[in-house]
Amino acid sequence: MKQPTSISRRHFLGSIGKVAGSSVMLKAAAAIGLTMTVSGCGASNASELPPVTPPPTDPVTPTPTDPPTPPPAVNPDPRPSDWPQGSGNNRTVTILGSGIAGMTAAFEMNKLGYQCTILEATARAGGRCRTIRAGDTIEETDSVQSCQFDNDPTLYFNPGPSRIPHHHDLLLGYCRQFAIELETFTNENRAALYHSTNAFNGQPQLARRVIADSRGYISELLSTAVNQNALDQALTTQERTDIIEMLKSYGALSPNSSYTGSNRAGFEGQENTGGTGRNTPIAPLDLTEILNSDFWQYQTSFAETINQQPTLLQPVGGMDKIAKAFEQQVADNITYQAVVTQILKTDSGVRIVYQDQTGSDVVVESDYCICTIPATVLKNIDADFSPAHQNEIDNFNYANPCKIAFQSRRFWEQEHNIYGGISWTNQNITQIWYPNSGFGRDQGVIVGAYTFGSNAGDSFAILSPQQRLNTGITQANQLHPQYGNEVTNGISICWPKVPFQLGGWGTSAANNLLNADGNIYFAGEHLSNLKGWQEGAILSAYHAVNGIVERDTML
Ligand code: PHE
Repeated sequence: MKQPTSISRRHFLGSIGKVAGSSVMLKAAAAIGLTMTVSGCGASNASELPPVTPPPTDPVTPTPTDPPTPPPAVNPDPRPSDWPQGSGNNRTVTILGSGIAGMTAAFEMNKLGYQCTILEATARAGGRCRTIRAGDTIEETDSVQSCQFDNDPTLYFNPGPSRIPHHHDLLLGYCRQFAIELETFTNENRAALYHSTNAFNGQPQLARRVIADSRGYISELLSTAVNQNALDQALTTQERTDIIEMLKSYGALSPNSSYTGSNRAGFEGQENTGGTGRNTPIAPLDLTEILNSDFWQYQTSFAETINQQPTLLQPVGGMDKIAKAFEQQVADNITYQAVVTQILKTDSGVRIVYQDQTGSDVVVESDYCICTIPATVLKNIDADFSPAHQNEIDNFNYANPCKIAFQSRRFWEQEHNIYGGISWTNQNITQIWYPNSGFGRDQGVIVGAYTFGSNAGDSFAILSPQQRLNTGITQANQLHPQYGNEVTNGISICWPKVPFQLGGWGTSAANNLLNADGNIYFAGEHLSNLKGWQEGAILSAYHAVNGIVERDTML
């Protein structure tokens, strides 16, 4: 079997330092005999190691890390079952925005006896929860695109939310209640690709090889450390034996604890063609190249995080099944094409002015307001918010993701055995998503870009829709050389340019906006501990409704 190119121990350690920090690096160094001994007299010392370079910034660094776990709440999160029936007593509420937060609030408050009016700026309910099919349009501040997909219900694109973690109970509860059919959504697919322009001569690598070989090399190194008694922690003989066995299993090590490759990585001949060779073992990838790549910075562990780990779900036929189901429940409450221009507090409640579809100003007075308008939009609306609220609105940051989608023959299934999941690249497109349903059909919709880092998002936002597609194709060709010849009917969305959204999801910490300003309450995913998730929008709606109900039931 072909052996991987050798890597100097020092280079290896430098790279480990980048990933794991210097203390791990020093322990690893000790394990392979590179550093000074405890008495400090060794020939080598750690300062000779290559400098630990800081992690690169965009586009490699992902922005959407989940927010840190909040401290335990004194009271558990409110649930609709906590709210007394009739607590609304016909009081009036104006809800600004018919996204998931606004519609959740209306749905629950209707049941409590509040009179709800939802003002929706567009002609459609759902906010960022929407699905694009043949003939739909995507409007941005300086462009309009019309979706050219074939007219087929399986050919759709979710430009906003697209996956639902299995523990997002509230959203999944509404799906059950509204009989929305769900299917699995795949984040991690071992037949998908990792690609970096900095490693493997820019050749994409099969996920199964990257993952199996990374685990193998790490396990071998740790076994060496354990065998040399190089860990700080004292291990009993039994623990040592167990850890060595655990590492053999975890990393597919040989009986002598070395890593020489594994059939977990597949076989020779299966790499790019999906061929049927199952006899010739495949040599492990070169460790230096794995370390040169950025795969390990977040891509290979993306699907480990609590909100991205299996099982994930999606509504059959498009995410807007959820928006439509909510809309059906609260249809009577919604005024469409009502663009809010003023939000003012009054002695007894709230006064909202909006422009209706004819351009006339309309005034609505109510006891309460729940404002779900994204902060990026709200900051330009005339309002008499307290300075603390206004200041937080003015400075609230948002992620600026861009997505591109194409219709295509399912070449990824037919030629590469890729059924759902994600390929990753360090180019600005960042991700390619393969459809998670309709397997075996001829045509599918492939998401050809989903940016996380802000530079990547900005790089697309400044382009015209056609230029975005061209760039998307050039970059995706690096992963799938046939891509440009296959994909067609492209369409894109850059969220910072979508009217009445002006951003993807909130990234700032919510503080003052969690408290009412007079009779104005705030909601939206950006004010939750699950920013960038529909579950967060629901949680934030519960928070606002709870504030109002508590106030009314204490009267
Ligand atoms: N929920 C969005 C997604 O899954 C945005 C997000 C990504 C939020 C990663 C947190 C972490 O793509």
